[in-house]
Amino acid sequence: MSIQLIGTRASFCPLARDLSTLCQVPQDAPLMTGSGEVGVIGLGVMGRALGLNLADHGCRVVGFDQNAKRLATATGGDSPIAAAAEIEQLMAALEAPRVVLLLVPAGAPVDQVLDLLGPNLAAGDVVVDAGNSHYRDTQRRAQTLRAQGTTFLGVGVSGGEAGARHGPCIMAGGARSGWHQVEPLLGAVAARVGGRRCAALLGPDGAGHFTKMVHNGIEYADMQLISEIHHLLRHTAGLDDRAIAALLSSWNEGELQSYLLEISVDILRMLDAHTGQPMLDVIVDVAGHKGTGRWAAAEAIELGVPAPNLLAAVGARAVSAHPSARMALAKRDQRPSPFPEQAPARLHTDLESALLVGRLASFAQGFELLRAGDARHAWGLPLSEIAAIWQGGCIIRAKVLETIAAACAEGLDERGLLGHPAFAQQLADHLPALRRTVALAAAAGAPAPCLASSLAWVDGMHTAASSTTLLQAQRDYFGGHGIERVDREGRFHLDGSEA
Ligand code: 6PG
Repeated sequence: MSIQLIGTRASFCPLARDLSTLCQVPQDAPLMTGSGEVGVIGLGVMGRALGLNLADHGCRVVGFDQNAKRLATATGGDSPIAAAAEIEQLMAALEAPRVVLLLVPAGAPVDQVLDLLGPNLAAGDVVVDAGNSHYRDTQRRAQTLRAQGTTFLGVGVSGGEAGARHGPCIMAGGARSGWHQVEPLLGAVAARVGGRRCAALLGPDGAGHFTKMVHNGIEYADMQLISEIHHLLRHTAGLDDRAIAALLSSWNEGELQSYLLEISVDILRMLDAHTGQPMLDVIVDVAGHKGTGRWAAAEAIELGVPAPNLLAAVGARAVSAHPSARMALAKRDQRPSPFPEQAPARLHTDLESALLVGRLASFAQGFELLRAGDARHAWGLPLSEIAAIWQGGCIIRAKVLETIAAACAEGLDERGLLGHPAFAQQLADHLPALRRTVALAAAAGAPAPCLASSLAWVDGMHTAASSTTLLQAQRDYFGGHGIERVDREGRFHLDGSEA
């Protein structure tokens, strides 16, 4: 593979303004406005895909990666991405003010790249962290770079490799002036739904990555819910994966329509290339994770937001990660018992409804987390716009977001989405099926933590008299923490004295 390394901008391309010849622009791709050029640092799966997408839209893309093999793969052959051997070369090849996208792993690697970039940055440059960084890191970095005259945007990009390549959902946070500089680039490559770009500035520093973190919390919960339903159908109801695919495919025609259900159907229809067995039969049942779902769950705890689905989804991955303990215990204990005899059609519609309520609960909890983050940081998060841009490009795109966008546009009171009539009606219609499903799973000994959490959360949020009166009394009994009384103002101890 031959790659041409660039020197300076002058030697990069004598026809730099002639973007269509340089970048193999597809006929229908709109050309960039503004400088129409960008540096991409980090040419792994996401960086390369986003770079190619930008190039498709007429953007001149210069890429750098510390890993020589990744650099060669992304820029070699007839790739429209030009290679820079060093960060200095990449910066010299771009016209000021420059736009640089970082697609490097979250955490220390982002700080390391920023350290290298620092001496090469000039006032007016915009650095965009398009990885899955923690929003607090983003706030810190934006503040540091602002002091040096550089705008730093934290931008959540969702959609995996295919999304980055053909149209992701883009959730930006940072200074509006910086967004105006990059919006022509990022807006052009984003997914579109009904002509609307799935890309928006959602608030100041950190707001974009916070929103992406919540997206991933919902993503974890929805993936777990679908997996629980599959597990019940396969191991408790005894269906094979082809039959389950047919069932889920029919569900995907209705209210449950979503990207995650669609890809689940595809996966269930796959056969292993080596053995010809159903794909899931050859996959180890231990879930990995990169941390964003855990951050969302931790943030919910930190902000006091009841989001048990997000916690249950992280917990389920943690349980899966102890296979030897599970296997040792399973040897001497039970396998799920089959569901009691009942008409399959009833079981299937119950599971469909259970999944719908679970999904509504996960989204509602996620939106409560957005609201709490917004209240804490005074960002002014546009909830309805978030629900709108989540309808395209991202992993959690789903039909239920139409209802959610409309509800958010009308405004949410203290009941959140649960208080919106359309949402409440769907819950009322489908909740009895979730009850039956959770009861069946429990009786069969089949773990369904996210379904069970959905039910407990819905019931908890509709309970006027919670179970915490005894708990409060216990806290005062052993810790003297005091109680509030229903019949008078102030704080008291159990013996009647004032606390
Ligand atoms: C997306 C995904 C993506 C996700 C990774 C890793 O929106 O495209 O959320 O950003 O972070 O797929 O997820 P895990 O934490 O499951 O490894």
